[in-house]
Amino acid sequence: MAGTSDIEKAAGVLRAGGLVALPTETVYGLGANAEDPAAVSRIFQVKGRPPSHPLIVHIGGAEQLDDWVQEVPATARLLAEHFWPGPLTLVLRRGRRVPLEATGGLETVAVRVPDHPVALALLSAFGGGVTAPSANRFGSVSPTTADDVRAELGDAVGFVLDGGPCEVGVESTIVDATGEIPTILRPGGVTREDLEAVLGFPLAVPASSGIRVPGQHPSHYAPRARVVLVEPEKVVAEAEQAQELGHRVGVFLPAAFGGAEVKAHAVVQVPGSMAAYARGLYGFLRELDQRGCDLIVASLPAEEGLGLAIANRLRRAAGPRATV
Ligand code: TXA
Ligand code: MG
Repeated sequence: MAGTSDIEKAAGVLRAGGLVALPTETVYGLGANAEDPAAVSRIFQVKGRPPSHPLIVHIGGAEQLDDWVQEVPATARLLAEHFWPGPLTLVLRRGRRVPLEATGGLETVAVRVPDHPVALALLSAFGGGVTAPSANRFGSVSPTTADDVRAELGDAVGFVLDGGPCEVGVESTIVDATGEIPTILRPGGVTREDLEAVLGFPLAVPASSGIRVPGQHPSHYAPRARVVLVEPEKVVAEAEQAQELGHRVGVFLPAAFGGAEVKAHAVVQVPGSMAAYARGLYGFLRELDQRGCDLIVASLPAEEGLGLAIANRLRRAAGPRATV
């Protein structure tokens, strides 16, 4: 676990224009000084991410929001005060401090306050905003441990702060808060139900398979193995059939079928709790890759609570891979 001297060192790397991998409660991020266009550009190089894909600016507290954006509608203020620090990202009008490199040329900017002691300590020691996408190669599975970051990015990142395994395990919920009626652009760690409880009115459910956010492609969060989604009661039969055809099949065995014998290369028992499933999801995908699976058979959880974010990531892991 990162200590005070690691935090100081990481803040120094950011000041010098370098990149730091940092833990958050959702996934690990690859951070740079948000106000240093050259450092921000390096993030895109290291990730292999197209420069038109906007990044999230991480700040140390809700009271700093006005330093980074131009206009904060009442609903946005309410959400920030209620959910920060936490896995909620607000898209608002870009403030002058934010270079266009960080927003992919957009006049809006995504901002959040991460709920992790190491991230908050770094933001406090550094003093500015840290722009950070998930610390993985473009399109692949997001890292939820410091070892995952090292496996993904190796020497390309100046410094990795170890904050232990991420508690939430899926990325933040992104909400477009530029208007009076917010819309969910990406489901994530704060559930739609949580947002609605605070707002007092219903929100539209995002079309999980559609591309709602600039810089989101159908195939994303994807392991090397191909991912196939079937109905829960068909998972076992589908997996065994593919295994018989010569695939090395990894199975996401739904909680309801717990303990079933499956003739496959590797079996992951899906946790019954959605919080545990979200926390484990990316680790399961990585594990099946590491065990040499070429095909993963899974099903979607009910799309409520954290199940909405899990289903979104599974759909996109199973998405077409031809275009990048
Ligand atoms: O939990 C998280 O959000 C993690 C941790 C590290 O904070 N970060 C993360 O970043 O998931 P990234 O870059 O992998 O995803 C950021 C998403 C992208 O899909 C991008 O399109 C969207 O945020 N985004 C950023 N700025 C935006 C903007 N101005 N308008 C709409 N979408 C935006
Ligand atoms: Mg990402």
